[in-house]
Amino acid sequence: MRMVDLIEKKRDGKELTKEEINFIITNYTNGSVPDYQMAAFAMAVYFQDMTTEERANFTLAMVESGDQIDLSGIEGIKVDKHSTGGVGDTTTLVLAPLVAALNVPVAKMSGRGLGHTGGTIDKLEAVPGFHVEIDNEEFISLVNKNKVAVIGQSGNLTPADKKLYGLRDVTATVNSIPLIASSIMSKKIAAGADAIVLDVKTGAGAFMKTVEEAEELAKAMVQIGNTVGRNTMAVISDMSQPLGFAIGNALEVKEAIDTLKGQGPEDLEELCLTLGSHMVYLAKQAESLEEARGKLKEVMTNGKALEQLKTFLSAQGGDASVVDDPSKLPQAKYTFEVDAKQDGYVSEIVANEIGTAAMLLGAGRATKESEIDLAVGLMLKKKVGDQVAAGESLVTIYSNTEDVKAVVEKIHAAYTVSSESVTAPTLVYKEIKE
Ligand code: URA
Ligand code: CA
Repeated sequence: MRMVDLIEKKRDGKELTKEEINFIITNYTNGSVPDYQMAAFAMAVYFQDMTTEERANFTLAMVESGDQIDLSGIEGIKVDKHSTGGVGDTTTLVLAPLVAALNVPVAKMSGRGLGHTGGTIDKLEAVPGFHVEIDNEEFISLVNKNKVAVIGQSGNLTPADKKLYGLRDVTATVNSIPLIASSIMSKKIAAGADAIVLDVKTGAGAFMKTVEEAEELAKAMVQIGNTVGRNTMAVISDMSQPLGFAIGNALEVKEAIDTLKGQGPEDLEELCLTLGSHMVYLAKQAESLEEARGKLKEVMTNGKALEQLKTFLSAQGGDASVVDDPSKLPQAKYTFEVDAKQDGYVSEIVANEIGTAAMLLGAGRATKESEIDLAVGLMLKKKVGDQVAAGESLVTIYSNTEDVKAVVEKIHAAYTVSSESVTAPTLVYKEIKE
């Protein structure tokens, strides 16, 4: 087999066999297929697309390019959740203890990552003492004992995807449905989940700007998952504005605690109940979505979800007393209010601009080497649809420096206040099961 023939075949819109796809991925991973040929192939896929079968085979080939996590030592159906990104997305922090409280095993492999705030691990490290440096054996035993544990990403998961993602980034081939879907799904499958709930974001702050695009990506991922034998479904949810109120690491931990008590922001709670119901249902811990939702609400009100969070944090060295006293979380030195300049209704909050504002404060990482300030961030006081009076606070800034001029400017640029009343955006657009 020769790579040049396979590029030509895809360029001409023909379907590649499993053997051909395996040839491409194996030889790209080991270096015998050079970047320039893989770049040409990615561009051919960009224009010619892939069939459902090709997408599934491409995904599996990337899964097999590196380590796969064996979760078979954990009892029950392991359900993983994945969000396609956004600003201030606190759902993982809420969902892990929440569904674990209903006996759904949560074996979460997570990263630090680049972005407006840290990744899930960074956020959890805002809890004094909490760490993810545990070995696989301890990870499995913690999930069996407490139903939830988080471990850092293993070094050699889907190396083919890592290499290809980097290449796509510099060859204008990131934005391709088959390539995005296989990239995301390969990582989830290699991480060992039996079932997968996807939260595909749409809107200005998301990868997929329209509901139609998000639906296409969601369908592609759901089909890959189900084709390779992992029960997969997707929810399409709004990211036209940040989710919840908190953007920042310790602030999001506090927000997760509130939400687990049933006292969090309405949109965050609702999305967690929606995603959580699907997780509980796929794990066969409820007969229907309605029953699952009822049970989730119950553990939010009877304190069980909060207890589950405490157990989880202390099992990994964390000071669980932060749950009852969040003032023990890292605190910023200064707070500043950003006031509305006019009366009206909030009609837009550009999520990316808000994310950049949080980043300027030091809440996220610009490069792998950057240090994160866990204490800083933003609390949104007004969301889209809210009425506001001139001089009223739109956002509270939590900062460790006094100079927040650039941050204030970003926040003003992100918010639009209009004189006409505005309805809040739809939160959950669609659920995709096949
Ligand atoms: N996220 C991924 O992991 N892969 C993509 O291709 C796009 C977004
Ligand atoms: Ca949030």
